[in-house]
Amino acid sequence: MENTDKHVVWHHAGIKRAHREVLNGHRSAILWFTGLSGSGKSTLAHAVEERLHQLGCRTFVLDGDNVRQGLCTDLGFSDHDRRENIRRISEVAKLMLEAGVITLTAFISPFQMERLQARQLVAENDFIEIYCNCELAVCERRDTKGLYRKARLGEIKWFTGISSPYEVPQHPDLVVETGRDSLADCVDTVMQFLVLRGVIE
Ligand code: PPS
Repeated sequence: MENTDKHVVWHHAGIKRAHREVLNGHRSAILWFTGLSGSGKSTLAHAVEERLHQLGCRTFVLDGDNVRQGLCTDLGFSDHDRRENIRRISEVAKLMLEAGVITLTAFISPFQMERLQARQLVAENDFIEIYCNCELAVCERRDTKGLYRKARLGEIKWFTGISSPYEVPQHPDLVVETGRDSLADCVDTVMQFLVLRGVIE
């Protein structure tokens, strides 16, 4: 969404992303984790962050539950609010990319269109969509937060996978089998992919 007010003018900074990346000693990138509630997005994103941190990388995780307690506290779970949630996160992720940080986002981000828009905000090579593949039945069995039970009882409306859609990514950069593989294996899969994409060595 562009600001059309002609009195709002972009200020060009002298210190750019490339300068920050040189200081950091690595490229920045957006790792966009998507998947059902309970599919392991947050767990995996934080575990990958720990590995990156150990390697000396500058990182930050934007997590659905946390962001909804601040920046997106005014948003619920209607389709409209989810779209606005993801639009805001996409813009924040773009800023963090400019800040030179490897940014890991862990949002259900259920709609193909908003994931595509998040990708299109930045250069193709800067955005890595990671689908946390975990069957609904497995997420529901785990039910770590007890939300699926409540959703089945009708106590939570618009619950993803139950009463609100999740559009499975058609062309993610990476699929991680979070419903089948161990956390350690999933972390390894992501780390190997980051080497392949030249984010880390
Ligand atoms: S979205 O769809 O991307 O805007 O959702 P997100 O910001 O990632 O928030 C998902 C977390 O919110 C909790 N929660 C719900 N999830 C799905 N549907 C409904 N109705 C809902 N209500 C609350 C839930 O803890 C989600 O966290 P995760 O980590 O995905 O389980």
